[in-house]
Amino acid sequence: MSTQSPSEKSGQEGEGGFKIPDKGVFVSEYNKKILRATRMPERVKILDTTLRDGEQTPNVALSIDDKVKIAQALDELGVDIIEAGFPINSEGEAEAVKRIASSGLRSEICALCRANKVDVDAAIGAGVDSAHIFLATSKVHLEKKLKISKDEAVEKAVTAVQYAKDHGLVTEFSCEDATRTDLEFLHEVHKAIEEVGVERIDIPDTVGVMTPPAMTEFVSEIRSKTKVPLAVHCHDDFGLSVANSLAGVRGGAEEVHVTMNGLGERAGNAALEEVVMALQAFYGMKTGINTRKLAFVSRLVSQLTGIAVQPNKAIVGENAFSHEAGIHVHGILSESSTYEPMRPEIVGKERSIVLGKHSGHHAIDSRLKEYGITLEKEQMKELVKRVKKYAESGKKLDDAELFAVAYDILGQETEPVIRLEEFTAFTGLNFTPTATVVLNIDGDVRRASETGVGPIDASLSAMRSAVSKSIVLRQYRLEAITGGSNALCEVTVKLGDTENPSIISLGKSVGSDIVTTSVDATVEALNRLWVCKLTMNGKDGGRKVY
Ligand code: KIV
Ligand code: ZN
Repeated sequence: MSTQSPSEKSGQEGEGGFKIPDKGVFVSEYNKKILRATRMPERVKILDTTLRDGEQTPNVALSIDDKVKIAQALDELGVDIIEAGFPINSEGEAEAVKRIASSGLRSEICALCRANKVDVDAAIGAGVDSAHIFLATSKVHLEKKLKISKDEAVEKAVTAVQYAKDHGLVTEFSCEDATRTDLEFLHEVHKAIEEVGVERIDIPDTVGVMTPPAMTEFVSEIRSKTKVPLAVHCHDDFGLSVANSLAGVRGGAEEVHVTMNGLGERAGNAALEEVVMALQAFYGMKTGINTRKLAFVSRLVSQLTGIAVQPNKAIVGENAFSHEAGIHVHGILSESSTYEPMRPEIVGKERSIVLGKHSGHHAIDSRLKEYGITLEKEQMKELVKRVKKYAESGKKLDDAELFAVAYDILGQETEPVIRLEEFTAFTGLNFTPTATVVLNIDGDVRRASETGVGPIDASLSAMRSAVSKSIVLRQYRLEAITGGSNALCEVTVKLGDTENPSIISLGKSVGSDIVTTSVDATVEALNRLWVCKLTMNGKDGGRKVY
């Protein structure tokens, strides 16, 4: 549905002395006031570690091909440095880093190494541009984990940096657990590696124990003692990784380590999408990131890692630009900046108005008008009441359901338009799964046969062929309700339409045969989608509603 607000259409100025459309971001003026005194760089480098720290997310293991796909997407997104992996970790990891390093990407390709020759050799063997060398320096790590003295630590750090540089690698060094390291000792390590020519120094908040004011001071303290460019690497154990990264930049860091969707060890790392948008919005900084690709890359990483993005996740979550409450929808439809701090399209998202128990008549009316349906005042009141009741029962209201209720109020016919007359599916060993369907679409009988990777895929394809090739499967979910080989299953099918991208229709069915249950769910979704299509195209007056 078109949810453009007046200022988006006209590009007009807003009240309060700041331009509303400007760069599509509408933040508080107090930020500018507070930050005015701070001198910060114009451009911050982004080091993405989705393929290294991100892959350390519990239960994530990416194949080499998937890693290459993610690296390509990060490159297109515009990240400066891709930390491609930890080559010494395994042969597969070394191979993945090698493939990425030889993919001709624009980004600098970096490998993680402990401060020893073997790790640096693995990075050299993988053909990367740079080595991110790390060594823990906090008391607890030195004494309990590494069991080495401070002098030995300095020696190891210097030798590893020198060795990597001698072999032509750009070097970035991290004192692991820097934020719990004695500051004097941290300066000592930094000074020693600066003397052998380290190119960048990273400050990891390894267990996420800083607060933003402390991070700013900590980084500026380090900044005052070294000329080497600084980076920050913040973990999210207290939910402060993004805030701490921004604070680190305020303290003098010129590079930020991030991961897509905030993946990473334990609670994760600072999320690329949040850091980039915040740097741009609050500090007015450039990052080189093509923000319009953020939603796409987030989806890709989520699909390949199998880690779902929480719906209420900032910037890329499903709800980040969704509005349900009546007052908010009213505001959004009048002027989007009332309830949105940035335009969805600048991060590659779309705004959506969700109908639910908080919806008022503005949202419902505007959705119906999209389809050319008009209700009288009393009918609208009744519709709002029924929509709320429906939503309160815990069900999700899609367009087809909304029409069903609207047409019921208008006293119009409600019956399925598409009926399944025949269906067969064959599968077997060394046999390409094939399905044939006969559908009766309002008296027009259509037959179609298709093959697929399995009988369900073949059946769904055959139904699409019979109805319309513009129909696409957006989601398919199969759940076993009971156990055993005769278990009951529930299938949910979500269909979309490439000719009318705003249409999404849902079908659900329960049965004991997963193929026929999938077909039944698809027929239900097809009926709903068909009604939306007809209504949108103004044919049939949308009278036949299932
Ligand atoms: O969190 C951390 O300290 C790290 C290091 C390897 C830099 O990931
Ligand atoms: Zn880390």
